Amino acid sequence: MGIESSCDETAAAVCRDGVILSNIIAGQEIHSRYGGVVPELASRAHLQNILPSVDQALLNAGTGLSDLDAIAFTQSPGLIGSLLVGAQFAKSIAVAMDLPLIAVHHMQAHVLANLIRDENNPAEVPAFPFLCLTVSGGHTQIVICNSPSDMQVIGETTDDAAGEAFDKSAKLLGLTYPGGPLIDRYAADGDAFRFKFPEPQIPGLNFSFSGLKTAILYFIQNEKAKDPLFIENNLADICASIQGRIVSILINKLKKAASQTGIKEVCLAGGVAANRGLRKAFEETGSKMGWNTFIPKMEYCTDNAAMIALTGYYKYRERSFSPLSVTVSARAAW
Ligand code: KG4
Ligand code: ZN
Repeated sequence: MGIESSCDETAAAVCRDGVILSNIIAGQEIHSRYGGVVPELASRAHLQNILPSVDQALLNAGTGLSDLDAIAFTQSPGLIGSLLVGAQFAKSIAVAMDLPLIAVHHMQAHVLANLIRDENNPAEVPAFPFLCLTVSGGHTQIVICNSPSDMQVIGETTDDAAGEAFDKSAKLLGLTYPGGPLIDRYAADGDAFRFKFPEPQIPGLNFSFSGLKTAILYFIQNEKAKDPLFIENNLADICASIQGRIVSILINKLKKAASQTGIKEVCLAGGVAANRGLRKAFEETGSKMGWNTFIPKMEYCTDNAAMIALTGYYKYRERSFSPLSVTVSARAAW
């Protein structure tokens, strides 16, 4: 069983021999009215959601606690209070059922989501080594994955994550949190070439999105000074132009990573992989460059416990267990 509680989803999943049998996710509606995740409220909601989520995951898998071989949980990175709830729950099960405890790094699990197979989906999965662009609300990374236990970060953001770039841009437009999906929706009817936003010149494979946010802020302020209804009258084109720039920043670095490493198995992961502009650009670039491209099912892209269970499965095979004294960490290195 895998348990995930690093941010604002409480999730539990069961896998058998690396095949996902159940995948339960309880979201937390409460944060939308505050314009972002409120850590204390997230911890409290995890406490309420964790037991029903674990129960449901067992039920859907047709298993009981006594059938489990090991219990895996997200150890890092994440909100400390949120991580603690999942970790303590996993430890309690480990003690009560005398099971090995497996600490999982959330970002490694996002990458391994590309290897998930479930009962309804004997998905084609990438061959090793593969490249993965992980884009979520908290992270933006390019990783070489040589094996389930051997990964190397070759590029990452120096400031905001791609999801934050979407959400903060959306906030400047007066859209509700999380604004990423709304930008995606409005962009579908817009012209991505109408407004030009700068592409940051960051050396190597690292990313930066803070300059883009500032450019959007000044652009909106200037245009609104001329036309107070500028946003309302041009929303689709603004969203399409912002999305177009975020996507081109991501895709250009991914192309650079593929050409530097010579790897042609290329994957996406993380919640921003839901973005239609990114998916389209990724597939188009892949077919132009001769890549084999992979995107996990959406339920395995956003935060979920199936990816924790699968990572736990690989660690179980290597007997990579943690003592009960293992602690959670807001930000742990790989
Ligand atoms: O992976 P995820 O569910 O949670 C984190 O670990 O952060 O990613 C959430 C992020 C949010 O920033 C959200 O706005 C963004 O993914 N997101 C999107 C879309 N769907 C989710 N961004 C752009 N377009 C989307 N369709
Ligand atoms: Zn995540």
